[in-house]
Amino acid sequence: MPRFEANPPRRPTVVTGASSGIGAATARRLAEAGHPVVLGARRSDVCTQIAAGIRDEGGAAAAFHLDLADPASITAFAKEAEEAFGPIEVLVSNAARIQPGGALETAPEDFEEVLRVNVGGAHRLVRAFGAGMVARRRGDLVFVTSDVVAHPRPRMSAYVASKWGLEGFVTALQMELEGTGVRAIVVRPGPTLTGMGMDWDPEVTADVLAEWTRWGLARHPAFLRPDGVALAIAHAMAAPRGTHLSVIEVQPEAPLHETAGYETAGHGRTGHGRKGANP
Ligand SMILES: NC(=O)c1ccc[n+]([C@@H]2O[C@H](COP(=O)([O-])OP(=O)(O)OC[C@H]3O[C@@H](n4cnc5c(N)ncnc54)[C@H](OP(=O)(O)O)[C@@H]3O)[C@@H](O)[C@H]2O)c1
Repeated sequence: MPRFEANPPRRPTVVTGASSGIGAATARRLAEAGHPVVLGARRSDVCTQIAAGIRDEGGAAAAFHLDLADPASITAFAKEAEEAFGPIEVLVSNAARIQPGGALETAPEDFEEVLRVNVGGAHRLVRAFGAGMVARRRGDLVFVTSDVVAHPRPRMSAYVASKWGLEGFVTALQMELEGTGVRAIVVRPGPTLTGMGMDWDPEVTADVLAEWTRWGLARHPAFLRPDGVALAIAHAMAAPRGTHLSVIEVQPEAPLHETAGYETAGHGRTGHGRKGANP
């Protein structure tokens, strides 16, 4: 049985959706760890600024335009990424679209667009970078999904369908890649304070949040910081050969109760020791 060779210390890495939130935090964290990073998103000007900031800090970074809804853009991006830093050792497939709206009111075109970007885009990225990894017998394909897979939420039916589809795809991919040396990894964040959903109409947001609370889907009001998810991604790809962190769920830690102790922490009959609790 062949032994695993250690991963190189500098692993050229692609991060999609790097113009904002979790993707930007991931690019910064991986660059700090010494990996050359290629940032991709539609707002390539923002990616270019973030890449310049990384270089100012001593890291290696390049930025290129990427629109996951456009196959030609993905092909061009993959070529530019490998020209910048050589064979890509790690793909962080993080970019996603979210569309507020229940099943009945979502236009089929909008529904299909979400699937096209969130699932079809991930598949095209795997085709662009996966074959080289298999040939080199090493590589990491990291997919940022969502805890909607574990706890689906109403009023975002296209997004939920896309994230279930993505995790189904990755699960099949993990089986197909078994024994190739390429690890497919799911990182599944809970609520995170990013740009996602910030462009929604505030009334729509209020309605959606009220409905989530009604369904018991908001245990407490805390959000993750994007770097909390970046940390999980960095950790998964830093695992030594022979170890495969196949699924990692990351949740915000609940705010501390006002008083210490288990009994006052809502487990006893005296009720909760915190403010603003959701059902
Ligand atoms: N925030 C949360 O609460 C949360 C919870 C669970 C999972 N997630 C997941 O975390 C990942 C990152 O999201 P985020 O929270 O960091 O949100 P965000 O700040 O809105 O970032 C989303 C990123 O996706 C990019 N993107 C969207 N459509 C694209 C397209 N067609 N082609 C290329 N890039 C595209 C955006 O860049 P451009 O607009 O510049 O293209 C942006 O960089 C997503 O997969 C999301 O589903 C987020």
